Amino acid sequence: MSTLILYSSKYGTAQRFAQTVAENMKSSVTISDVEVFSGKLEDFETVVMGSCIYMGKIRKPMKKFMSANALNLKSKKIVLFAAGGVEKEHVSTIMKEIPSELTVLNPPVHYAGHVYDFNKMNFFERLVARALKIKKSEDHFREDNALKLAAELDGNPHE
Ligand SMILES: Cc1cc2nc3c(=O)[nH]c(=O)nc-3n(C[C@H](O)[C@H](O)[C@H](O)COP(=O)(O)O)c2cc1C
Repeated sequence: MSTLILYSSKYGTAQRFAQTVAENMKSSVTISDVEVFSGKLEDFETVVMGSCIYMGKIRKPMKKFMSANALNLKSKKIVLFAAGGVEKEHVSTIMKEIPSELTVLNPPVHYAGHVYDFNKMNFFERLVARALKIKKSEDHFREDNALKLAAELDGNPHE
């Protein structure tokens, strides 16, 4: 049983979640930025895909990959995750962004938490963050959720 974890991240939160999951798994796992993934989906039974959310959307490379591979992905066990500042909206946001071939599978969506780092943000992003009443950098990464997902992927959901 082999797992593939693909992520798309702008400033590192989604990547950190993917890496934390992979590092804590005991079973076979391959991890890659979706933009540089060059393996074959046929080699994997489970495919975990995650992205950060900006302005209500997941990142384009992930969206493109899902659309281009929707038919292949349909026959896999699919697990999703999202990094975003609005926890209660992460499931609905990601579900409206993925192709219909995958929405019908009703895949589980895990929450990676969020990080606002004013040192990394550009001018526009800082403006948006301030409009959302974020005044300084904050780190609400959900390591607990990454560890839970790692245990689930290993087949030990109650670890
Ligand atoms: C300009 C801007 C727009 C954002 N828009 C959303 C959003 O629409 N929904 C949401 O849940 N989070 C939003 N966020 C929060 C990011 O998803 C969060 O900072 C996340 O940790 C970024 O992940 P990354 O480090 O992988 O890029 C936004 C953040 C910024 C700076």
